[in-house]
Order: sequence, then structure tokens, then C-alpha cells
Amino acid sequence: ANPSLLILAGDGIGPEVMAEVKKIIGWFDAKRGIRFDVSEDLVGGAAYDVHGTPLHDSTMAKAQEVDAVLLGAVGGPKYDKLDFSVKPERGLLRLRKEMDLFSNLRPAQCFDALADFSSLKREVVAGLDIVIVRELTSGVYFGEPRGIFTEGNERVGINTQRYTESEIARVARSAFELARRRNNKVCSMEKANVMESGILWREVVQEVHDKEYPDVELSHMYADAGAMQLCRWPKQFDVIVTDNLFGDLLSDAAAMLTGSLGMLPSASLGAPMANGRPKALYEPVHGSAPDIAGQGKANPIACILSFAMALRYSFDMGAEADRLEKAVEKVLADGVRTADLMGPEGGVPVSTSGMGDAVIAALDAS
Ligand code: NAI
Ligand code: MG
Repeated sequence: ANPSLLILAGDGIGPEVMAEVKKIIGWFDAKRGIRFDVSEDLVGGAAYDVHGTPLHDSTMAKAQEVDAVLLGAVGGPKYDKLDFSVKPERGLLRLRKEMDLFSNLRPAQCFDALADFSSLKREVVAGLDIVIVRELTSGVYFGEPRGIFTEGNERVGINTQRYTESEIARVARSAFELARRRNNKVCSMEKANVMESGILWREVVQEVHDKEYPDVELSHMYADAGAMQLCRWPKQFDVIVTDNLFGDLLSDAAAMLTGSLGMLPSASLGAPMANGRPKALYEPVHGSAPDIAGQGKANPIACILSFAMALRYSFDMGAEADRLEKAVEKVLADGVRTADLMGPEGGVPVSTSGMGDAVIAALDAS
């Protein structure tokens, strides 16, 4: 059977950037003989408009069955006043929760042509290509007890950092699997110097490594030192694995190494399915961008690179993923620019579909 892909384009610029990915899927079919069973459905405000819910049960069921889900973006001003239970974001939260996507991959990749967009010096970021793996479903954002309580004559706010051995082990495995598809190198970050959960984190990651992934190079770093090293010399890293809280901070910081929001892909992975590949949802980091929606201004590269991640991590098509990433790199090197990428040095201005066409032309030439 062909690999299966569920496309949930969503709201705002979601369908606009997804249209370019669909062209690329068509290119792989026509020119490379690689065919996906693509189905499409609604999520977010678009689903609410039709079904009165941001994710219909039948869509949820489809998402559980396919090899990978590719999502555009959800939300928009039209839905801001809706009750929380039917807000567009709830559709995405339900997908993440019911698919149990505990491993969030956030690449920070800096194409040479965009190195001057970074907040850091060109030589520090040019050619950077790292992935932060953030644990997404446990830790201090979920641990009990939590709440604001009264203690004596004052209030106390409490959150609990809590990780079980199996929660640490499964995200560690996800990072080691990723490393084997990349450069065989993982750095695990916690604060084992001051946190019990950090001590356990370090021990379990080391145990999983020694038993199951001794071929991967593993190092450990305190997360505060890691933050410093990420800004000082990020190219020393390849895969970083860390908990929910530290991953939230480190991945946002790493995103700024690379420049525009319109360039950042992501993946969220769950447990392995019957075919051995993890449950997976791929999506650009950006939202529905209502300020530019409907104007052909959106940069489709974040969504295109999210599809490249799907090729690599869900479909075992690393060479095709490389081909697609190289095509994006070439287009950028040629100076092709959507508005968000237009810097002082200028470039060839293109619309959303113009960028998609340029990537296809580069694929043709590859
Ligand atoms: P946003 O990411 O939609 O936009 C932030 C800024 O970046 C805007 O100025 C926008 O024009 C620009 N931008 C974003 N993506 C771009 C692209 N591909 N090309 C060029 N420019 C781009 O975040 P914002 O404005 O905070 O949220 C807008 C809506 O999106 C809200 O309803 C929010 O809840 C939702 N949202 C959804 C997310 C998701 O679906 N995963 C994530 C973040 C926000
Ligand atoms: Mg954040």
C-alpha cells in the first residue's frame, strides 16, 4: 500500500501554504513515482463552521489510522469569542492528546542565504542544523499537586515537576532514533545539580543509551549551561533532548537563531505503530497569520519543510527529504523572497504560490 497522509489545512494562511505542499506532493508522484494516499479534512475554525466542533470524531479516527498527519494552522479573529471548549486551538490540542504525541521535534536550521536574519553573527549560525526534542505531555505543566492554596495567612502557588521512568525513557528513545537518522549524537539537558527529576532524567537517559543505543554519542549538560552554549556556539549540537519546561524555553531561543517564523517546521511524535514508525503530526510553528491571510503573502517554506520532515521521519525517505531541503536552499540562495524574508539586500519578490513554483523548478533541476 502507498504511505498514507492526512492533510488538515485549517484556517487563515493554513490552506494557502498547504496548497504549495500539495503541488510538491504532486511533483513527487509525477516525477519520482512516489505516491501518497492523501486524504483531506477540516480542523479548527473551518471544522467548527461545518460541524460545530473544531475536530470531528471522524477526523480524529482518521488521524489515528494514517502514517502521518500534516497540519496547516488554526485560529483567527472570527473565532476569538467562542467558548473555550470549541475554540479552534482545541482541535489541535485534542489531536496531540489523543495521539499521545509526547515527543516534540523543533529543528533550528539556518540556511546560508538567510544567516543575516539571525540575531547572532553570521559565522555562529550559517549552516546550523540542529533539532531540539522536547518532552511534551508531562513534567511541571501537568504534575500534581498544582494550584493556588492558602498556607497560614498567605497564598502559595504550586506546580510539581514530575517524571516517571517510562516517560523519560520513551522520549529518550525518540531522540536516539532521531540521532540514528542524523549524525548519531545526542545531548541531554536537565538540572541534575538541583532537581530530583533531573537526577532521574540523567540516569534513565544514560540507561536507555547503554542498553539500546550504545552506538549513539551521548553527553549531558545542565540546561542553564545549555542555554548559554546554544547562543555561544550552537553548531556543537546535533540532537538535544530535554523536558517540557526547558524544551519550551530552549526551542523558542533556538528558533531565533534562524530568522523568520515563516521558516520553522515541527514534528510531534508518539509511540510506534504496527509498522514500527511513530504516530506523527507535522506542522509549521507559525499560526494562521490573520494579518496577511488571503493576500498571497504567506511564506510556505515552514509547511514545505514540515513535509520534508514527514518524508524523513515517517516515510523513511531521507534522500527525498534531502532533495526537497536542497531545493529550498537553492531557491533562497537564488534570492527568491516572500515578503517576510525580504532584507535590506533585496531579492526577487514572490507570492506564496510563486515560492512554491520556485521550489518545484529547483526540484526539477535537481
Ligand atoms: P502567527 O504565527 O499567526 O503570526 C505572527 C506574525 O508572523 C504575524 O505578523 C504573521 O503575519 C507572521 N507570520 C506567521 N506565519 C507566517 C508565514 N508563513 N509567512 C509570513 N509571515 C508569517 O501568530 P499570532 O498572530 O499570534 O496568532 C494568529 C492566530 O493563529 C491566533 O488565532 C492564534 O491562536 C493562532 N495560532 C495557531 C497556531 C497553530 O495552529 N499551531 C500557533 C500559533 C498561533
Ligand atoms: Mg513557547
